[in-house]
Amino acid sequence: MHRNAVPAAGSKLAVIGAGAVGSSVAYAALLRGSARTIALYDLKKEKVEAEVLDLAHGSPLASGARIIGGDDITCVQGADVVVITAGAAQRPGQTRLDLAGTNVSILRSLMPQLLEQAPDAVYVLVTNPCDVLTVAALGISGLPAGRVFASGTVLDTSRLRNLLSWMTGVSARSIHATIAGEHGDSEFGLWSSATVGGVPLRECRGADGTLSFTDAALDDLGHQVAEAAYTVIQGKGATNLAVGVSAARIVEAVLTDEHAVLPVSSLLDGYQGISGVAMSIPSVVGRQGVIRRLDVPMDEREQARLHASADALRAVQESLGI
Ligand code: LAC
Repeated sequence: MHRNAVPAAGSKLAVIGAGAVGSSVAYAALLRGSARTIALYDLKKEKVEAEVLDLAHGSPLASGARIIGGDDITCVQGADVVVITAGAAQRPGQTRLDLAGTNVSILRSLMPQLLEQAPDAVYVLVTNPCDVLTVAALGISGLPAGRVFASGTVLDTSRLRNLLSWMTGVSARSIHATIAGEHGDSEFGLWSSATVGGVPLRECRGADGTLSFTDAALDDLGHQVAEAAYTVIQGKGATNLAVGVSAARIVEAVLTDEHAVLPVSSLLDGYQGISGVAMSIPSVVGRQGVIRRLDVPMDEREQARLHASADALRAVQESLGI
């Protein structure tokens, strides 16, 4: 099946929420040419109209995408992919799971309105805790599991590859290493399948011939990635730029039916014996959303971390009756 390298002519992205994250998603999509039409929706009329104008002013110098939007939800009409960023954001000292109650309530009100405008769209949750909100959105919408998923650890995986690139002097594009599980404190690295330019991560050696990535070094690396958002939030009050480009990358895989492998978060149905929670696993992403998850080899430690991540998410879901 021929898959276009560029978004289909009528491809429309709708971004819900014109805050720091939503406007960054729209901006990244504009620069990357992720979609031909980008709609930005928010309840705050003045804010969203200013963001739409600001994006539109730059469009001729970028991908030329048509930029529309405002506080009228009909701007979402006919969208092919909807990225949801609306909700409370993490503040210093908060975990992503702390936001669950507030943001699930917002989703319960928002999702039915969005479905009315874009019943055939693929829905990508960015609002945190995105894993929990994915399960909530599936319950509210009744859509097939593959069509509602979260950006998950696509961002964390990019953070990991960036760190490994610094450490090894190899381009991040030649590093295949993935963060899996919760997009949050219980996430973990799939070290046993990670490679740097095809060399297994655990076999990489420094100039002195010693192994670069011992278990202790990998634990520290995983901790640095898991803490990355807190560091950025402490310094600038929020994260928005990297998550914006992460979401735009996912949008491209959907709109071009790319069948790209991305660690997005989708509802598990027996994966490694886990069901009922959404977590990030390397998955094939295309026009219908998550097409399938890959059976990534995991050692015993990684399997235990996956189950621990599932337990953390399930506890929050049960507390909210999801
Ligand atoms: C972060 C937010 C998007 O990890 O959860 O930056």
